[in-house]
Amino acid sequence: MNFQWYPGHMTKAKRMMKEDIKLIDLVIELVDARIPLSSRNPDIDELGKNKARLILLNKADLASDKYNDMWAEYFQKKGFFVVKVNSKTGNGLKSINGVIQEACKEKIARDKRKGILNRPVRAMVVGIPNVGKSTFINSYAGRACAKTGNKPGVTKGKQWIKLNKNLELLDTPGILWPKFEDQLVGLRLAFIGSIKDDIINLEELAFELVKFLLASYKGTLEKRYGIDEETEPLEILNGIAESRHCRLKGNLLDTSKAAGILIDDFRSGNLGKITLEFPPVEAAETENQ
Ligand code: G4P
Repeated sequence: MNFQWYPGHMTKAKRMMKEDIKLIDLVIELVDARIPLSSRNPDIDELGKNKARLILLNKADLASDKYNDMWAEYFQKKGFFVVKVNSKTGNGLKSINGVIQEACKEKIARDKRKGILNRPVRAMVVGIPNVGKSTFINSYAGRACAKTGNKPGVTKGKQWIKLNKNLELLDTPGILWPKFEDQLVGLRLAFIGSIKDDIINLEELAFELVKFLLASYKGTLEKRYGIDEETEPLEILNGIAESRHCRLKGNLLDTSKAAGILIDDFRSGNLGKITLEFPPVEAAETENQ
């Protein structure tokens, strides 16, 4: 499957983020737990260098628990602080405050040496569209949030949400666009719904998902649709159409509708907790095996 997609406003957003990042101590980067690398834009490492870094594996509820742990370890080894969260229900958010204090302890100690006590950590939320930035901000800030308004020396218009005496959050998240010169990255982004479905051939996408599930999550299609997984992959969409009574005029099977059902079931978690991208095995680890 070939993707021809290029987002607009990218340069402007990046320029704004460069300015915003100057104001903060900590970058809170949301990634999608189902595709933690493919849902990152690597530019953030350059933009956020010299800042404390926290990665939130968001939508952890939709991804495999085993791989969530492996991904957390992967990023921790690279020097990031990591928390697994479900921003929709608030699961995992409680531990964030403690982790932030730990991630920013050098800054807090530096302040102390200068005689500055209790200056809150300033943080900014970043991530690709649809990864859950607004949901996270709303649910983390909760009802307790208070906008602190402009601060002297800060560009006019910047709003800070005072979360507690230790933490302030910039209320506008930084939007980064995913990069996908690599078609596999594009495919994963399409699976999770980060590429508009109207520029995608849904049946092709569903077929790719079928192949992935047969290879990595055996039994999933059988459990959900009662399909014999020994069937040719090309026939599986027919099987889903049959099991879900998707018919066109003349009683023909409506595989287009079946494709939509499969994709929706995956995205909403009805197929179970599925991670689409697995942590790369680092060179040092393979050498030791
Ligand atoms: P953005 O600001 O980064 O663009 O993302 P936004 O918060 O708008 O979230 C995008 C979608 O992801 C929303 O679903 C939101 O509910 C969902 N979402 C965010 N965090 C989580 C999470 O941790 N787990 C799950 N399962 N979903 C999450 P939507 O379909 O646009 O709306 P709705 O289904 O909430 O009505």
